[in-house]
Amino acid sequence: MPNFDVLGHRGAMGLEPENTLRSFKKALSLGVDGLEFDVQNIHGELLVFHDESLERTTNGEGKLLNHSVEALRKLDAGKGEQIPTLAEVVELIGNQAFINIELKGFDTASLVMKLVRMLDRKRFKKEQFIISSYLFSELSLVHELDPEIRLGVIADEYPTIAQEFADEIDAYSFHPSYSILNQSLVDDAHNNGMKVYVHTVNDLDKINHSRTLGVDGVFTDYPDRVIDYIRS
Ligand code: G3P
Ligand code: MG
Repeated sequence: MPNFDVLGHRGAMGLEPENTLRSFKKALSLGVDGLEFDVQNIHGELLVFHDESLERTTNGEGKLLNHSVEALRKLDAGKGEQIPTLAEVVELIGNQAFINIELKGFDTASLVMKLVRMLDRKRFKKEQFIISSYLFSELSLVHELDPEIRLGVIADEYPTIAQEFADEIDAYSFHPSYSILNQSLVDDAHNNGMKVYVHTVNDLDKINHSRTLGVDGVFTDYPDRVIDYIRS
């Protein structure tokens, strides 16, 4: 069978509090190939956090940007976990899995510049990272700053023109929502040299269907389910 990568979505968010060290440890212990998480630039610190506001996943209130980093780091992000910094997460993962950093938040130009500098400084190989976004403009900026960085194009709506991504930013991978997945989308991406990683796939029938269409892997909240399925 062709290679099929299991990417833990915000760690293993179906099993542990999303985007926390605990969640990343869980996903790694299950044997994921890659980890996906969301990064925002908050007052110059790169924090791993999905939402614009604190309520859904922490005991805090209001927008992240209305708090100091020190105050944010004192919040409970679930089961007593802290909101982690990007450096902490990258350090934890080491070389155990590939890393998909999704750009989030408002200050993405500075975020991109900081990220590109970090990848240059760290001992990690650039091939270990995929930087992804819904926004072509953000990916384009990364490509401008460092054409070697692997880029992932997230899309929740068809029509998306794979050729454009391949030609203009030399995208490494295409990350469609399962809701728009079909054979021609997969073939189109593959014909343009991109891998296809589908989000977010938690049910066995969807895992099976994705695999039948020849995708290269899935983002999942439950890495245990996908790994069990692949092994069975
Ligand atoms: O990267 C796939 C997926 O994470 C995109 O959506 O909202 O879960 O960050 P979201
Ligand atoms: Mg994400």
